[in-house]
Amino acid sequence: TILTSRYATTIITSRVANRIDQSQEIEFHVKIPKNAFISKFKMTIEGQTYDGIVKQKEEAQQQYTQAVSRGQSAGIVSSVGRTLEEFKTSVTVAALSKVTFELTYEELLKRRLGKYELLIHARPMQPVADFKIDVYINERPGINFLDITGGLSTEALANAITKTHASSEAWVHFYPSKEQQSQCESCGEQGLNGDLVIAYDVHRKTSMGDLNGYFVHHFAPSNLPRIPKNVVFIIDRSGSMHGRKMEQTREALLKILGDLAEDDHFGLITFDSSVSTWRKELLPANQDNLEAAKSFARHIHERGATDINAAVLEGTAMLNRHPQEGSASLLILLTDGDPTTGETNLEKIHENIKEAIGKKFPLYCLGFGMDVNFDFLEKMALENGGVGRRIYTDSDAALQLQGFYEEVATPLLTDVQMVYLGGANLTQTNFSQYYNGSEIVVAGQIPDNNIEMFTAEVIAISKSNRVMYSDTLPTKEPIEARSDSHIQRLWAYLTVKQLLDKEVQLSGTAKEKVKKEALDLCLKYGFVTPFTSMVVTKPQGEDSQVAHKPKEGEKRIQSSQVDYGSGSTPFCILSVCLSLYPFLDFPHSLTLSLSVSPVQRFLLPAEGQALPLCYDIPVALSLRLLIDPNNGYQKIVIHYRSDQHIGLDTTGITFNDGQNTTYFSWSLKINHETDSVSLILRDKEMDVTIASTRVVIMLYKRNGIKFLWPVLRQRPTGENIIGIMGE
Ligand SMILES: *[C@@H]1O[C@H](CO)[C@@H](O)[C@H](O)[C@H]1NC(C)=O
Ligand SMILES: *[C@@H]1O[C@H](CO)[C@@H](O)[C@H](O)[C@H]1NC(C)=O
Repeated sequence: TILTSRYATTIITSRVANRIDQSQEIEFHVKIPKNAFISKFKMTIEGQTYDGIVKQKEEAQQQYTQAVSRGQSAGIVSSVGRTLEEFKTSVTVAALSKVTFELTYEELLKRRLGKYELLIHARPMQPVADFKIDVYINERPGINFLDITGGLSTEALANAITKTHASSEAWVHFYPSKEQQSQCESCGEQGLNGDLVIAYDVHRKTSMGDLNGYFVHHFAPSNLPRIPKNVVFIIDRSGSMHGRKMEQTREALLKILGDLAEDDHFGLITFDSSVSTWRKELLPANQDNLEAAKSFARHIHERGATDINAAVLEGTAMLNRHPQEGSASLLILLTDGDPTTGETNLEKIHENIKEAIGKKFPLYCLGFGMDVNFDFLEKMALENGGVGRRIYTDSDAALQLQGFYEEVATPLLTDVQMVYLGGANLTQTNFSQYYNGSEIVVAGQIPDNNIEMFTAEVIAISKSNRVMYSDTLPTKEPIEARSDSHIQRLWAYLTVKQLLDKEVQLSGTAKEKVKKEALDLCLKYGFVTPFTSMVVTKPQGEDSQVAHKPKEGEKRIQSSQVDYGSGSTPFCILSVCLSLYPFLDFPHSLTLSLSVSPVQRFLLPAEGQALPLCYDIPVALSLRLLIDPNNGYQKIVIHYRSDQHIGLDTTGITFNDGQNTTYFSWSLKINHETDSVSLILRDKEMDVTIASTRVVIMLYKRNGIKFLWPVLRQRPTGENIIGIMGE
C-alpha cells in the first residue's frame, strides 16, 4: 500500500504454482475494504498477461449473461460483508506452471474519532513461503502517531511487524514466517486469517495537499470550543426490534444519555404504529432530566408496526420549536424495518421529511440489521444533510451505536463554507456541521495550474461567533516528485463517491445526468463502482468474467460457482441454480443439457442469495424434477445436539430445546436465541444459525401448493466439509 494525502493505493499480488502434472483450477480470493474502488486486475500466466477492463455495467452484464447462458461459470463476484467486500476469481493453470494475480484498489481514508485507519485483510488459505505486507505512508504535514492494531497484531506475530516512523514518512512491514502464520491466535492450519489495521493521524499545520493542477484540502481543526447541541433520538420499538436488538438499543441509549453535556438539550421519541415522546419539548441534559430519561429508556419495549413518517415528523417539529441560535441541532433515527403503518409510500415520506426539515439540521439514519430498506433510509439521510449507517446485528451492536454517536457528539462548527478562488470542478464545499475528530475534505482542479491566483478560505460559525480561516498555500515549496496522477485520482475518487450519493437522491433526467457524469469518470479512471464492472478475459477456452461493486446490503443472485469437491469421484458439473429459483425475478431461463458421469452422486451447487448448497441426486432421477417449480420439501428437520431439533413444515415451526417445545406459525415475526441456536422468522423466511452455519428456509406457495426451500446463507467453516450442507 502506498498512502499519500490519506489516499491509499493497495496492490495485492499472489503467485501460485501448480505443482501437479495436470492442469487445475487455481483460485484468487481476497477481501478488500467496502469503501474502496477496484481499479486494476490482471493475471499473468506463462508470460501472457490478461488485463481486466472496466466497462459500463450494462455492457459488461451482456458478456456475463452470455457466459451464464452457455452454462459456464462467471466467477468474479463481490459480496457485501460488514467492512469488507469479496473479490474472487479462478483460472485453470496448466501442469507445472504458474499464475500471478494482481489486484489494485484505491480508497480515500475517512477520519473518524481523530484517526485514519487503513485495513488490510489477510487470508491466503495456507501458510505461504513468502508472505509480505508493505505499507508506505507519506504525509506532507507530518505524521502525528502511528498504531498497529487488528487481529494480526498479536504477541505471537509481534516480531514479524516492523514500524519505522519519520516526521512525514512511515513504513510498516509485516513479514510473518511460515511457522508464525499458523501459530498466531486467529490462524490455523490454513495460515493467516485476520486484519492488520494501521491507524494514524497527521499534524495540522498546512492542510493543503499537493497543488499540481489538482488540489486536496483537508480541514480538521480541533482547538475550538464545542457547540452545545440539540439532539432528538427517534427509536423504533416495533415488534421486529424484539429481543437482542431492543436490549442493545437500550444499552447504547443509556450510555449515550450519560455522555450528553449539561448544556446539550435532548429529546426522546419512541415509535411503533404510534409515536410517544418522553417529554413534549427538548430539555437540558441536567442530572434530573437524564435520570428520568434513562428510566424511560430502560422501559422501552417493542410492540407494534413501524410508522417512520410520523415519528420523524414529530422529532422535526420538536427541534423546530426549540431555539437553535448558538447551537447545533441533529436528529438521529434508529430503525430496523420498513414503514409499515401510517404513511407507507416511501417517496411521500421522503418529501414530507425533506419539507419539514428544510435543510435546517441533519438527519442521521441508522438501519439496524439486514431487513431494513437501507436505500430508503440512506436517501432520506442524504437528502437532509446526514448519512445513513448500517448497524450490524452482532454482539457489538451497542458499541456500533455508541461509536456512531461519538462521531457526531462534539460539533465544533456549523454552516461551513469552503471557498476556493481560482478553483474549478470542486467536490462538495458546503457542510452543515463539522464534528471534532472528523474531517472535511475538498478536492478540485486548478485550471492551467495557475497557483498564484488560487486562494482557499473557510467561513463557518463556531460557538457564538463567525470564524474565517484562510489557508496560505505552500506555493513556494517545490512539488514533490511523485506521480502527478495521485491527487487527480483522489479528486476523481471523491467526486465519484459524491455523485453516487447524489444520484440516489435524484430522479428523471437529473439522475441520468449525474449517472452519466459518474460513469464517465469511472471509465476514465478505471474504477469499479455500482455503475461499472470489470471484465476479465481468461485464457483460451475459459470465459470472460465480471467484477461488480455491489451496493450496501444488495442481495444479488449470482450464477453458480462450480465446486469440484475434494474427493476423487468425478462430479458432474452444472450451472443450474438459476432454474431452481423460477419464482425469483431473474432474467434468465436456462435450458439444461447435461452429461451425467457414471457416478453414484454428484454435487449440484445452488447459489441463490447464498453460497452453494449441494444436493445428492441419484443419477437415475430425471433432473427435470428439480426444475419443477412445485418441487420442494414438505418437511425439514434440523437436528443439533442429541436432544434438540427444529422441525419445519408448511404449517409452522416446532422448536424443541431439549426440554420445552415451542410452536410458531409462519406468519409471526420471531427473534429467538439460545446458547446454541438463533432463530429469526420474518416474511415466511426462517433464518437458523447454528455455530458457523446459517441456513434460511423459505416457505413458498406455487399453484396452490406450499413447500419449503432451504438456502445455505453461510457455509460452515472448517476443514474437509463436503456433502449436503456440509454434513
Ligand atoms: C477535540 O479533540 C481533540 C483531540 O482528540 C481534543 O484534544 C479536544 O479537547 C477536543 N475538543 C473538544 C471541544 O472536545
Ligand atoms: C453554499 O452556501 C452558501 C451560503 O449559504 C450559498 O450561497 C452557496 O450557494 C452554497 N453553495 C453550494 C454549492 O451549495
